[in-house]
Amino acid sequence: PIHPVLLAGGSGTRLWPLSRKSYPKQFAQLTGPESLFQASARRLSGPGFAAPLVITAEPFRFIATEQLAGVEQAAQTVLIEPEGRNTAPAVLAAALWLAEREPEALVLAAPSDHVMPEPEAFRAAVAAAAPRAAEGALVTFGIAPTRAETGYGYLELAPEAEAGAETPQPLARFVEKPDAARAAEMAASGRHLWNAGIFLARADALRDAYARHAPEVLEGVAAALAGAEADLGFTRLSPEPWATLPDISIDYAVMEKAEDLAVMSYAGRWSDLGGWDAVWQEAGPDADGTVAGDGATAIDCRDTLLRAESGGQRIVGLGLEDIVAVAMPDAVLVAKKSEAQRVKEAVAALKAEG
Ligand code: GDD
Ligand code: MG
Repeated sequence: PIHPVLLAGGSGTRLWPLSRKSYPKQFAQLTGPESLFQASARRLSGPGFAAPLVITAEPFRFIATEQLAGVEQAAQTVLIEPEGRNTAPAVLAAALWLAEREPEALVLAAPSDHVMPEPEAFRAAVAAAAPRAAEGALVTFGIAPTRAETGYGYLELAPEAEAGAETPQPLARFVEKPDAARAAEMAASGRHLWNAGIFLARADALRDAYARHAPEVLEGVAAALAGAEADLGFTRLSPEPWATLPDISIDYAVMEKAEDLAVMSYAGRWSDLGGWDAVWQEAGPDADGTVAGDGATAIDCRDTLLRAESGGQRIVGLGLEDIVAVAMPDAVLVAKKSEAQRVKEAVAALKAEG
């Protein structure tokens, strides 16, 4: 079977004040009755999938298991990271845990905070990608670019690759977060796809790729796993070796350098909800471009998102344009929607104030 690895340790500051240090966006109900984490677990379940392996931080371990139970699932294990060190160590910890049990296990490492509302189409793409991964390739999932986004990785098809094919195609290179000029070129080339941030590979192939391209990450993670403590379905990685690990993403540490890369095109809807503007888009604005959630009333508003997050609380917008307003019991955000990407600055400012 394919072993889903759900990355659930990020803090998602661009969706403040809904996404909090103590309750990040993957666990919040952003677009429907299930949290993004629950929807991700459900998407990667069913015939051909093993129980998920979750990797997260100590404070979220019970939220994760409770939310899995809410979708009739139990984790294979929950790996607990002593501290966030970005995705390179997290993905490898999961891969090594699986490799110890089954070296050729197929690992599907996936963020748990994306919106992919066509789960069957995605499972079909995973099934189509599996044979190539079983041969030892690191398979990425590619999305046709629609803008010159600089926050994503770009996948450059090899000359012999067929764009839009229904089987994995070889990659010439992986370029993480290019500058604006390069992003514009690649988005328009017809030979580049966005990296969806989801990877399918054999556990031993991942281990070998780290051995070649990020040996210091392999060493630290292997030691953290060797010293791990099992505790009722939780596996706590050892803090001392973990503390020596660099803070680096798998994209920079491994994917930009790896040789045997392939991409499976995915044509279904995909959003990483990278900001309030993306939440507005995914929620399906009405004819005036307005989204008013539960507890929200919009009167004569345009291009506006209104949300109240606690029961009984009301939020009313009157004559607004290009506004995001999100009311939490202890914090309210009011911003221009077109500038909502700057929420990170608000979080930084609040942190500085203490
Ligand atoms: N467990 C764990 N621990 N999860 C983490 C950690 C960590 O330390 N850091 C991040 N994550 C989770 C995040 O919650 C998110 O779901 C996923 O890993 C990716 O991390 P991001 O920080 O959101 O990465 P990004 O958006 O900058 O870039 C990645 O995703 C893009 C698509 O959304 C890259 O893979 C890009 O190439 C890609 O285009
Ligand atoms: Mg992201």
